[in-house]
Amino acid sequence: MAEISSIFAATVRVVSQALMIFGGVVPYIPQYLIIKSSQNAEGFSNYVCLTLLIANILRVEFWFGKHFETPLLVQSIVMILSIKITLLKMKKTVIVSSPGKLIIGGEHAVVYGRRALVTSIGMRLYMQLTEEEQTNESTSPLLKVSFQDTNQQHLIDLSNIQNSYPIEIQGILFVYNRFKSFVSDRSQLNIQVHSEIPIGAGLGSSAAFSVCLVGCFYLLYHKTLNREDINELSYKVECIFHGTPSGIDNTISTYGQSLVYCRAVKKHINFRLSNLAIIDTGIPKSTKRMVELVRLFVESNQQEGERILNDVERCVDSMIEHSEQIGQLFQENQQLLKCLGVSTLEIDNIIEILAKKNILAKITGAGGGGCLIALTSCFTKDQILDLLQDNHIKSIAFVECGVEGLREEQTF
Ligand code: MEV
Repeated sequence: MAEISSIFAATVRVVSQALMIFGGVVPYIPQYLIIKSSQNAEGFSNYVCLTLLIANILRVEFWFGKHFETPLLVQSIVMILSIKITLLKMKKTVIVSSPGKLIIGGEHAVVYGRRALVTSIGMRLYMQLTEEEQTNESTSPLLKVSFQDTNQQHLIDLSNIQNSYPIEIQGILFVYNRFKSFVSDRSQLNIQVHSEIPIGAGLGSSAAFSVCLVGCFYLLYHKTLNREDINELSYKVECIFHGTPSGIDNTISTYGQSLVYCRAVKKHINFRLSNLAIIDTGIPKSTKRMVELVRLFVESNQQEGERILNDVERCVDSMIEHSEQIGQLFQENQQLLKCLGVSTLEIDNIIEILAKKNILAKITGAGGGGCLIALTSCFTKDQILDLLQDNHIKSIAFVECGVEGLREEQTF
């Protein structure tokens, strides 16, 4: 009998010591499982972890001063190890989105310090950035980029960067370089991109990409979306893509709404247009090439160039003050863009056909192809497509204007 009770007492002692040792980490298990399944560590407080970590380290230190019960010492060691493992294993994920844009008036002239009017549109680019521990034995950080819309993937060893990457990857590597001190050698960065904004159509897809890219890194490593800093750095990414842009595209994508923009200074205005159709000509264009073309024109025709640029600015001022005349002002701005050499025969032809039906249109963005904006009070998408059936129009959309800029998203 005495033997049974001593076995029982020993069992109780071992069980209670085990409970003491492992009891502290049990509350972490459900949280760990939620983080693992949702791949999102939101709600998991690093500060609570830090407090527990310090408390347990102190407790271990006390043991060296005065030996207390061994299970309590082991409990602290188990706690320290499990917090460390949870923090290391934890994937860090952020998702942001930012909008495309329409330049209502003043494109190209804005590169020369003239005022331009721009509005954000309800087409967004979404980007997810995750930092996780690598599963393989590599000792250098890795970058995996997935463009979901085109099914393109790139896997890059960040300790061995080449010069021959596609331009978007060069942009990503530029931003990574700014943040690389935060990234450990055992990390893998995953970037996923999905966009509603057509690429190379003058609707600001590259600016939305630059803004989201910088936004993701800011949110992951600085835990905030500081718009001023993000706008400044995304301008530098835009320079990689387009040479010497004015900064209007990244600024509207960062701040959203509608803006009058001039020499890096923005002024929010209450500007909304209903019945604004975006006509995608489907003709590919390069912003960099068009900006270069205008530069050549302005440099070799200085007086005329200056006159045109001033006329564009006057036209923009009228758009702001007399929005009821916006249709005519579209036509005026379009004529000036034509003088700068950024219209094409196809675009002129489309604009002429539309004008016959009193649909007043102009290029939006760099020109040379891409999109037109058209004011139409009574035509539907299909009716406009019918009018332009010989012009191989890619798409027509009516979009919301003046939407929110860069923002954090919860899910794709
Ligand atoms: C491109 O969206 C607008 C341009 O004026 C170029 C720029 O401002 O950087 C053509």
